[in-house]
Amino acid sequence: MILARYSRKLFNPVNLNKFYSSYSVPETTSFPRRIFSGIQPTGQIHLGNYLGAIAQWVKLQQDNEDMILSIVDLHSITLPQDPKILSNNILEMTATLLACGIDPSKVILFQQSMVPAHTHLCWCLGCICTMPRLAHLPAYKEKSANLKDISLGLFVYPVLQAADILAYKATHVPVGEDQAQHIQLTQDLARMFNKRYGETFPIPHCIFTGGDYSRLRSLRDPNKKMSKSDPDPKSRICLIDPPDEILKKIKKSVTDFTSEVTYDPENRPGVSNLISIHSFVTGKTISQICDEVKNFNTGQYKLQVADAVISHVGPIQKKISDLLNNQDFLVQVLKGGAEKAGEISEKTLQEVKDKLGLQFKRETVHKQILNL
Ligand code: TYM
Repeated sequence: MILARYSRKLFNPVNLNKFYSSYSVPETTSFPRRIFSGIQPTGQIHLGNYLGAIAQWVKLQQDNEDMILSIVDLHSITLPQDPKILSNNILEMTATLLACGIDPSKVILFQQSMVPAHTHLCWCLGCICTMPRLAHLPAYKEKSANLKDISLGLFVYPVLQAADILAYKATHVPVGEDQAQHIQLTQDLARMFNKRYGETFPIPHCIFTGGDYSRLRSLRDPNKKMSKSDPDPKSRICLIDPPDEILKKIKKSVTDFTSEVTYDPENRPGVSNLISIHSFVTGKTISQICDEVKNFNTGQYKLQVADAVISHVGPIQKKISDLLNNQDFLVQVLKGGAEKAGEISEKTLQEVKDKLGLQFKRETVHKQILNL
């Protein structure tokens, strides 16, 4: 209860900034800047994923960042999945990322389960992580709340996420706000490991490059985030929703009883959410938009937002469907990425095993035997 209140309080952007400034102060690091992020191939990508994560990755790619992106299929199976649907979803996610502008010749894009170091490192980190630390994480509480039987995988999920990041010695992790506590756990595990076994990992920092888009809200309840797991499909706009569906969802979106269009996320979260979406898809600033629509009521404004969203996602939808016609190419992209990711993460894993005493160094063993 207290934690739920705490996490709600935390998700207020003002509090969150305070929270971040308290633990994301960069520690001196000799590690080169590297970015890692991931996305689950469950269901269809919604505007929250797109604005809060993927579009930010595309920007980082344009800035020539050293970036590694993973389609984290092993995270998806922490909840039951239909195998046929899951393998389709992996390819659909690959096509979607490419259609949104991710270029596998500039960044490493791979499927998590193709790279064994993730689960191996997860085990090693799991051995220094305590159970109460995991049981307190809000995402775990939320996901397990309605389950009768909770799998071990769901409980360990955040340790696997830490392994994803640390396997590449990533220094920065661009995510939406909902991932904040998982990155904090990653930091804690990196510190604990370094303290016990000597400096091995950088302390990775969350980056909310998405700004206003780091926590896009549900269209049905603007106090909640837009989420794949919301049982009401009208709460989210998916990238592949047909135009009439997008129009319907935006028309039905919950705003408030004031008819003017003003941006005030704290007091008017519903209409402000629409303005954020509108600003992203048109490239206009919030104040430009508010100025342009000052004579509109929210009903008229919704039609304009829907139009803009439909025009923005149309070309992406066309690219997704073209790419899905060439599944061999998509598989090749994932395999090529896994090879590169495998090389980097294997090196980290060898270093970790060495530090844990899981590998023999000939000289040490000889000396120890002779001393006996
Ligand atoms: P996932 O697949 O739920 O979401 C992918 C990304 O989308 C962001 N996001 C949002 N951003 C803004 N507004 C929203 N309403 C919204 N909903 C989702 C998420 O914050 C995320 O950045 N555990 C992760 C995947 C993961 C990962 C990692 C991420 C696994 N390993 C390592 C970073 C680094 C997840 O379930 O994301």
